[in-house]
Amino acid sequence: MSNLNQETVTSVRHFTDRLFSFTTTRDPGFRFLNGQFVMIGLMVDGKPLLRAYSMASANYEEELQFFSIKVQNGPLTSRLQHLKVGDKVLVGRKATGTLVQDSLLPGKHLYLLATGTGLAPFLSVVKDPDAYERYDKVILVHGCRTVAELAYDDYLTNVLPNDELIGEMVREKLIYYPTVTREPFRHQGRITALIESGALFAEIGLPPLDPQADRLMLCGSPQMLKDVVETLEARGFSEGSQSSPGAYVIEKAFVER
Ligand code: A2P
Repeated sequence: MSNLNQETVTSVRHFTDRLFSFTTTRDPGFRFLNGQFVMIGLMVDGKPLLRAYSMASANYEEELQFFSIKVQNGPLTSRLQHLKVGDKVLVGRKATGTLVQDSLLPGKHLYLLATGTGLAPFLSVVKDPDAYERYDKVILVHGCRTVAELAYDDYLTNVLPNDELIGEMVREKLIYYPTVTREPFRHQGRITALIESGALFAEIGLPPLDPQADRLMLCGSPQMLKDVVETLEARGFSEGSQSSPGAYVIEKAFVER
């Protein structure tokens, strides 16, 4: 299997009955851009069973981290959720994906809009010094059903701002905005509603969306992407790619697993 590395699980953390994360060793030759994904999986019946996973770790970190949903009868995650430290995981040698800095035109504010496990690629982006060098503010919005699903709330609130390497940039530039839809919380409502009502911008103290100043990366369900894109297109934003940078880029949060 020349296109796959075999890595070892170094930690596992369960957040809820639907969400968990794990870290693995990293092949020194495995390179990626923050925001990208890779195929990972397990050997099942003598064959590799693989799904796309975004790296939730930054490209300068020694280990890889992944943030996953648990689907009880999902071919891969029904197995993956039982991972233990020391187990082996297959990790592709080649990373890819659209949520990369060079697909966006220069701008003032970088909005990272995620629902559910769509947060994963942005955990990599918010650790990237390059993102803070390019923008005055980086705004991470994470929408979940419940407070318990805001799995990285403590990390983003208390740990990352004190990081030795990028804590200072994070304190100066990162605005973390968690929002919940199915129980009371300090921020409530879907990302789409928060954009349309303007509540998001009023609360974080930034002007309403402006195609000249604002850049966005989106990661969520197909319906979330469709709805947010509709709102963006109506406001004059156009999609970017690596060959033709634009005002926003999107990636499906991978959930059929
Ligand atoms: P809601 O509770 O109103 O469905 P899920 O866990 O199903 O992936 O959902 C994660 C979060 O994304 C939930 O807060 C959910 O809100 C929200 N959501 C679901 N569909 C959309 C959409 N089309 N646009 C914006 N947010 C959405």
